[in-house]
Amino acid sequence: MDAAQLKQLVAQAALAHVPAGAILGVGTGSTVDCFIDALADNGMALAGTVSSSERSTARLRARGYTVLDASTVERLPLYIDGADEIDYDGYMIKGGGAALTREKIVADLADEFLCIADESKLVTTLGRFPLPVEIIPMAAAQLSRRFALLGGRAVLRQGVVTDNGCQILDVHDLAITEPLAFETEVNQWPGVVTVGVFARHKAKRCLLGGADGVRSLN
Ligand code: 5RP
Repeated sequence: MDAAQLKQLVAQAALAHVPAGAILGVGTGSTVDCFIDALADNGMALAGTVSSSERSTARLRARGYTVLDASTVERLPLYIDGADEIDYDGYMIKGGGAALTREKIVADLADEFLCIADESKLVTTLGRFPLPVEIIPMAAAQLSRRFALLGGRAVLRQGVVTDNGCQILDVHDLAITEPLAFETEVNQWPGVVTVGVFARHKAKRCLLGGADGVRSLN
């Protein structure tokens, strides 16, 4: 099976975890696109959704789902999203699709984070995938120097403006051995909007698609 088929496989498997008639938090990315299509193709009814990007909002609405403003929702039973990397503890790197800030906001509303991914995303140490960091543009040079002190090489993502009007630094060559401490540290650097390490909002469970089918991590 190729990567696209694995994404469809986990998207399909995720349907069994969706609470009937709930308001569901929906992430962003190609795996989530498959999930939205699987929801609709299977006629699954929801009371509404809270979306983490303009991209997912457009897809959800096109498939007939109501998208609610996050500020009108107090809590969500579940948030479903992909990841760029996930480790065996459920810690993740996210933001390859530049939606990390809204993804973290919606994840924060949710009781549980269900990650859906193909098994190529599973790692022992986070950092092989360049870490996305959403930033205020005027801080780019200073933040790049700060990452260099941690051994990271920050590259400004060209031609990308986030849904929040900010920019993305992709930080190469990191080995994030302590995700919680790393997230806490980088979060407090001036000019950082959101760091793409999801440690405080880690996945409670991950459905991983592989050649032998879907297995559940955690
Ligand atoms: C978007 C994300 C995505 O979840 C991540 O990039 C994975 O995407 P895909 O499902 O296309 O592999 O964090 O900001």
